Amino acid sequence: MRLCINIDHIATLRQARMESEPDPVLAAGICELAGADGIVCHLREDRRHITDRDVNILKQTVKTKLDLEMAATDEMVKIAIETMPYMATLVPEKRQELTTEGGLDLSATEFKVSPAIDSLKEAGIKTSVFIEPSPEMVDLALEMGADMIEIHTGKYARLTAPEDIVTELEKIRQTALTAKELGMGVNAGHGLNYQNITAIANIAEIDEVSIGHSIIARAAFTGLENAVREMLTIIRRIRQ
Ligand code: PXP
Repeated sequence: MRLCINIDHIATLRQARMESEPDPVLAAGICELAGADGIVCHLREDRRHITDRDVNILKQTVKTKLDLEMAATDEMVKIAIETMPYMATLVPEKRQELTTEGGLDLSATEFKVSPAIDSLKEAGIKTSVFIEPSPEMVDLALEMGADMIEIHTGKYARLTAPEDIVTELEKIRQTALTAKELGMGVNAGHGLNYQNITAIANIAEIDEVSIGHSIIARAAFTGLENAVREMLTIIRRIRQ
């Protein structure tokens, strides 16, 4: 299972002072040296953390693969096509939210998401859609031409009652299985940390996880390279 690191929070720290450090580009290089399989950054409409400059330089410097997380808007599609990241992940975006709050409801946003997928794919960018764990959403994602899904694990990460966790994990597993059977790539992310990653890594159909907050938070105490390596050690105990 691949580990991709979301470096938005490094940019959040930089933007807190509107200075030039810490530089998310440098962070991406350290994550790659520590063994990360890819780098994820979310260019938001309000540019609250990652900026256009970051995306441009990351495209030139990331040696693994760059996943540009973005809303399905004309502005972002244009930037993605100009930048040509390895892949794009389409997410819902609200100005007031602290972080992405849920998956795309593809039945309600088809009119926005479908044309964005078409344009990205025409340009040769692999496209993933961030969805709630639901096999029905996988069918819609396939119909719209997405290459991959990213399953929202935020609810799983917040649950505390063991029986609720088991139920949510089963939904995640069924969603992953449905996507795999349809020939799609399966990613997962949001709220994953050094504890709850184990059950996710045990779902064989999940190809890749995208993790930001927990790794960057740990990095403040142990250094970024160590924080990435520790996560990789946990994952590699279960999956290659
Ligand atoms: N995947 C998606 C689509 C996200 O929006 C985020 C948060 O930016 C993540 C994964 C990473 O979530 P976290 O920072 O909670 O690890």
